[in-house]
Amino acid sequence: MLKQDTPTHILAVNSRTPTPDWDKLSFSFSETDVMYRSFGDQTQDPIWDEGEYLPFGAIELSPAAAFMSYGLGVFEGLKAQRSDDGRILLFRHRDNGLRLQKSAERLLMAPFPEDQFVEAVEEIVRRNERFVPPKGKGTLYLRPMEHAIENKLGLGPCEKFLVTIYSSPVGSYFSLKAAEMPKGLRIRCLEQGRVAPGGTGFAKAMGNYAGGITIAANWREKGFDDVLYLEAHHKKYITETSGSNVFVLLKNGTLVTPPLDDQILPGITRDSAYQTAKDVLGVKCEQRPISIDEAIEDAEEIFCTGTAWTVRNIGEIVHHDKTYTFEKNDLQTSLLQEILSYQTGEKEDPFGWVKEVKL
Ligand code: COI
Repeated sequence: MLKQDTPTHILAVNSRTPTPDWDKLSFSFSETDVMYRSFGDQTQDPIWDEGEYLPFGAIELSPAAAFMSYGLGVFEGLKAQRSDDGRILLFRHRDNGLRLQKSAERLLMAPFPEDQFVEAVEEIVRRNERFVPPKGKGTLYLRPMEHAIENKLGLGPCEKFLVTIYSSPVGSYFSLKAAEMPKGLRIRCLEQGRVAPGGTGFAKAMGNYAGGITIAANWREKGFDDVLYLEAHHKKYITETSGSNVFVLLKNGTLVTPPLDDQILPGITRDSAYQTAKDVLGVKCEQRPISIDEAIEDAEEIFCTGTAWTVRNIGEIVHHDKTYTFEKNDLQTSLLQEILSYQTGEKEDPFGWVKEVKL
């Protein structure tokens, strides 16, 4: 297993990785130059070392590392974007650091210090600057993670942790072309929960995503873009898709999203969309349980929010083998444009969410 004094020879060095074709970006991994890692040990003071920047490459870990068996890992996703004048902007990255802490604490892992997270994220962007796509072509997606890495055979809390941050230039999560956007996503509603009541649904934990991959893959084969899960106990209220929060704009003009609980991830795009709708666009907003029946009967628009998904409208939901279509996407479009305009520096961000990475 890697220890804090492990030399860095295990890391492949390739500092001239070509940048991808900016016109062909999709939401897939491509290598960048530099990654970050920091080791934590609960028995030490301070718990975390100062961290280091290394050429992107493989890391060596013990097969007995706790996360390998027990999924003791949490992660984040955030984006750096270019403005028209070539500056690089980060969006609410301190909030990602805070959420990483909360997720880690849910799995009894040591929280990674907020300021260290912010500094590391900014430095990773700086050191991979040449991979930040030109404005309008895509974003540099950052993937911070924390894993429990000590050898562990039985179940129990861990003391040794690894935080890693890597980045990848990405394009749109879905292959829908701009012209197809109004049609929106095709979603299958499932009579099941994404996560268990009382489980880890509010944390961005590895296990929350693993189980859903096969489910979404099955429905994708049948022509759907993704699935919509219901609250696990009552199977009545909407929760999330595989990787996004959900909003419903009712015909009476109220925008509703499920309240934060043990089955809802506190999405940063969710919060941004909520605040932007309420405070900038003047929309009446509510966080309350909303049943699939109410959504289907009364929705003017339904849309998804997430870092990777951005703000995407749902055009069609199939529930109990009946198809419901939602033709409007005015609010979704306004929210997407408004949030994008902050993220790319086109408009002044009234919330203080955007920070320029000084090169
Ligand atoms: C993100 O939106 O950044 C996520 O981490 C979700 C993942 C399914 C891509």
